[in-house]
Amino acid sequence: MTNTPILLREVRLYGEGEPVDVRVRDGQIAEIGAGLDADGATVVEAGGHILLPGFVDLHTHLREPGREDTETIATGSAAAALGGYTAVFAMANTDPVADTAVITDHVWRRGREIGLVDVHPVGAVTVGLKGKQLAELGAMSSGKARVKMFSDDGYCVEDPLIMRRALEYARGLGVLIAQHAEEPRLTVGAVAHEGPAAARLGLTGWPRAAEESIVARDALLARDAGYRVHICHASTAGTVELLKWAKSQGISITAEVTPHHLMLDDSRLETYDAVNKVNPPLRETSDVAALRQALAEGVIDCVATDHAPHAAQDKCCEFAAARPGMLGLQTALSIIIDTMVRPGLLTWRAVARVMSEKPAQIVGLTDQGRPIEVGEPANLTLVDPETHWVVQGDAFASISDNTPFEGLTLPGQVRLTMLRGRITAEEGKVNAL
Ligand code: DOR
Ligand code: ZN
Ligand code: ZN
Repeated sequence: MTNTPILLREVRLYGEGEPVDVRVRDGQIAEIGAGLDADGATVVEAGGHILLPGFVDLHTHLREPGREDTETIATGSAAAALGGYTAVFAMANTDPVADTAVITDHVWRRGREIGLVDVHPVGAVTVGLKGKQLAELGAMSSGKARVKMFSDDGYCVEDPLIMRRALEYARGLGVLIAQHAEEPRLTVGAVAHEGPAAARLGLTGWPRAAEESIVARDALLARDAGYRVHICHASTAGTVELLKWAKSQGISITAEVTPHHLMLDDSRLETYDAVNKVNPPLRETSDVAALRQALAEGVIDCVATDHAPHAAQDKCCEFAAARPGMLGLQTALSIIIDTMVRPGLLTWRAVARVMSEKPAQIVGLTDQGRPIEVGEPANLTLVDPETHWVVQGDAFASISDNTPFEGLTLPGQVRLTMLRGRITAEEGKVNAL
């Protein structure tokens, strides 16, 4: 399928240097230079805004199949495109669980039909996410979806022997295992970070050690397997120290951090509003500072949203009964600007690294997170860094509206997203196939 050529007029590549024009044709970047002729192309006046490679989210919950009342592949894809994403990895904790190629291929096919973002299904590591028996990783990885990443996210692969086997199989297949690091014996009944705030409010605590003990263990398992492991949603200063140590030993370990863990802390618990309930929980200001520093220094490799839509009845209820999780796709960039770019911790060049290039490399996507150069696939995001907007959950493309950022004024907005040369979102509207 060919689309009309597009000329992005006056963009600043990675937010650097003088504005240039970028011509996109046949899904690729065809020409970059100053003052290019329209030459029949559709012209987008970009007004000096920042052009970045399209974002890649290694951690999204799309809820289809099973909870289409909270999100679907279609609505989640729209939220992703509006958030500047050109590829997302849809977690396996659906109903039924994505533990066979039938399910992973279905998710992949639906994503293709919708065409707003590349939806890569994540396969479960164990059958039914139960942690007892390895799922058929090989069948999923050789299916139509070519599953590249496996995770029991929502649950930890708790049994060290199963985790060891999973890494060994993953090595043979060349796929990624992503761990939700939570030692379940330490988090029985836990609903919030174990610290002074939870103690004061009478909430059962989720200690840092529950995450850190699994990060340490899995680093050692990766060392012995001679194969990489990826840590989902790092949330503590201790995890940062362990990642530093493991990397210094030459262990192949990568990690992501969520926008909410970079922005919010457990002072949010005061109101008992379950919109702030998330797993792992919001931690303390010292953890937030350590996570920011780690992302700036590359100890944490990338940003992932853990976009987790939930129905109102599962969020607007007593704290202990509420489900953990928050929306992320349409606020991620703005939170990164606020927490990392504005304070001088990341340049725009580095934003491209943590939101696009690194995640693509970690999971082995060869057509995303590419340099903005002639001949490369036109997966691009145009960002207006100056504007501000007020978060309103019910205005999001997601069916659910559980955002902890409701009412906040945030900096920066995605103006346009392009997937293989086709505009998927522009000025807050998606462009359906
Ligand atoms: O907060 C979370 N929500 N953490 C998880 O691990 C699962 C996720 C979900 O599926 O809602
Ligand atoms: Zn998780
Ligand atoms: Zn998750």
